Amino acid sequence: MSSAPSSNSATPLQSLDEVEDFYKTRYPEPMSEAAKPKVGYAPDKKETEFRNYEADARPTVREFYRLNHTFQTYDFGVAKRKEYLGLNRMQMGIWEAAEYLNQLVDDSDPDTDMSQLEHLLQTAEHLRKDGQPRWMILTGFVHDLGKILCLWGEPQWAVVGDTFPTGCAFSQKIVFPKFFEANPDSKDPRFTSKNGVYTEGCGLDAVNLSWGHDEYIYQVCKNYLPLSGLYMLRYHSFYPWHREGEYSHLLNNQDRENLKWVQAFNPYDLYTKSHAKPDVKALRPYYEDLIAEFFPAKVRW
Ligand SMILES: [Fe+2]
Ligand SMILES: [Fe+2]
Repeated sequence: MSSAPSSNSATPLQSLDEVEDFYKTRYPEPMSEAAKPKVGYAPDKKETEFRNYEADARPTVREFYRLNHTFQTYDFGVAKRKEYLGLNRMQMGIWEAAEYLNQLVDDSDPDTDMSQLEHLLQTAEHLRKDGQPRWMILTGFVHDLGKILCLWGEPQWAVVGDTFPTGCAFSQKIVFPKFFEANPDSKDPRFTSKNGVYTEGCGLDAVNLSWGHDEYIYQVCKNYLPLSGLYMLRYHSFYPWHREGEYSHLLNNQDRENLKWVQAFNPYDLYTKSHAKPDVKALRPYYEDLIAEFFPAKVRW
């Protein structure tokens, strides 16, 4: 990725898509008709795939996770929330934000890779073609806008990648768990028990997940979209929960009820990237109308 200077480290990935392509290796697209995306859908992952995905990961992806697991501490997440969640950086409409994000140009081949805007439109268009509700189509359109953090100098490991709770024991089902050995929290007695700084059943709202684009876009949108959409935004990268079933001890009833929406959204995010490129110009009026139905003309970022 060329456009964002990295503050704390090298940028190991050529493209943010490398991490998301890696998700697809870990969680391959189901083939059967019955497994098509729908609410309540949560595909199984074969054990063989589970065993091999780390060994098969590109060196850039491995290095990405090494940095992510080393530096995503509880205190880092607290500091980033303080830095960003006052939403005092700029005021921008949703379509404007999508165009702003689209400045993020990866080093990889522009002819074969989707732009950020194209990924958002593809995700949303897939939802639309499946007859999903308008709020869900819009949720698809905004879900990765938090990646604008990259444009503000945040390193890749603090923007993308799977998220996981900080402040308590790291699950062994998080990808590349051995890299947590270098995370200072793994030796801090406040953070190493099963519940850590949390209480059993406290609910995910009380849990500081590792910092990234999910939490940021959730906070930007939280006054404007329904709760089920907000769950999709806030937890779409929380694979240890929505694909691995971990951290049940932290959940409350609201989390358990909304898991189905996070799982329903995931295939639209993951498995639409290879389809034909969307016609941005032709689609814009539809999305401008949809945005205006839920959001004010300017939103705080
Ligand atoms: Fe995302
Ligand atoms: Fe995405």
